Amino acid sequence: MLGLESWNLGSYISYILPFLFFFLLLFLLLVVRLDGLGSNIWTLQSCPIDLTGKTAVVTGANSGIGKAVSCELARRGARVVLACRNLIQGQKALSDIQKATGSKELLLREVDLSSLASIHNFSQKLLQEEPRIHLLVNNAGSTGLPPRKLTSDGLELTFMTNYLGHFFLTNLLLKCLHRAGSARVVNVTSFRQQHGFVDEQHLVGAGDPFTKSMAYDCSKLMLISFTVELARRLQGTGVTANSVEPGVVKTSIMRNYPWQFRAIFWLLSIFIRTPKQGAVPVLYLCLAEELDGISGKFFNSKCKLALPAKSAQDSQVTHSLWNTSARLTNLEKWTKKE
Ligand SMILES: NC(=O)c1ccc[n+]([C@@H]2O[C@H](COP(=O)([O-])OP(=O)(O)OC[C@H]3O[C@@H](n4cnc5c(N)ncnc54)[C@H](OP(=O)(O)O)[C@@H]3O)[C@@H](O)[C@H]2O)c1
Repeated sequence: MLGLESWNLGSYISYILPFLFFFLLLFLLLVVRLDGLGSNIWTLQSCPIDLTGKTAVVTGANSGIGKAVSCELARRGARVVLACRNLIQGQKALSDIQKATGSKELLLREVDLSSLASIHNFSQKLLQEEPRIHLLVNNAGSTGLPPRKLTSDGLELTFMTNYLGHFFLTNLLLKCLHRAGSARVVNVTSFRQQHGFVDEQHLVGAGDPFTKSMAYDCSKLMLISFTVELARRLQGTGVTANSVEPGVVKTSIMRNYPWQFRAIFWLLSIFIRTPKQGAVPVLYLCLAEELDGISGKFFNSKCKLALPAKSAQDSQVTHSLWNTSARLTNLEKWTKKE
């Protein structure tokens, strides 16, 4: 009798536990989602800014957050340069944005951020076509790339794509940003930056530790470090630079990971931000009037000022990273050519 009762209790518990666990998980995820989505202090609806007559450049504009950002900028009247490495996907994005906004001010231009020559070609054309750039959104990024893979320039692929490419591009476009009188550079980084650290050896595929995700985390922290130093160098010019993390967003960002990771990301996707929602913090940095004159700062996915990982706050580190990046990209040589 006693044995039967304890069996009943045991089987009852083993039935109920998975359900309890499931509902607890659901509840936690809902709380996280509400916390992550509901408490933005800034909304697009509350921002009346019109961008007619302004020019914006968005890298990685053919998908995810970049496409959503480009769409909103076009909706507000900006001339938007969609800077994409894949012109077929870029053309598709351009048509979608045109359909959604009716904009006739969309341009598609090719740039591969993992190649110095491609970035240089892109910026040369842009310098001729667009005398003034009011907004540069350095959004393109990739994770899950093979670590320590070197590009034809001898630079590490993840660091080149996520950080060095944007360092180089921004410097080549400075003339157009200055000419605009008042301009903003917005660097899209990641919450993963808090797990990163700055090791300049990473830029050439050396240094440790070096896994796919560590390379991503460190490259995103370098992008913040770059923002801080860029802002310092641009003080008093009317050009500001800030960085932002968009939260966890349902995009193609996991495309280079094995299917198991993609499956988990897909399953969780009902609890995370859509590209349109993920674009909001980025658009906050592009549009909010309260950020006029604010520079060198890092914002979290709730549009709130935050502190990045320590090395991006150390002026010796940011200064040294800038010099190493300028040397590795041959910045002086390329800018002298112009
Ligand atoms: N989704 C998230 O949860 C999340 C979280 C934190 C931060 N972020 C950041 O948000 C940004 C946008 O990512 P997403 O989530 O919107 O992902 P996505 O849909 O994969 O978009 C990434 C974009 O970057 C472009 N790109 C990648 N490598 C490039 C290269 N070498 N040259 C030029 N363009 C390149 C891609 O172009 P192709 O289509 O040609 O590959 C694509 O347009 C990234 O910087 C990412 O790190 C995303």
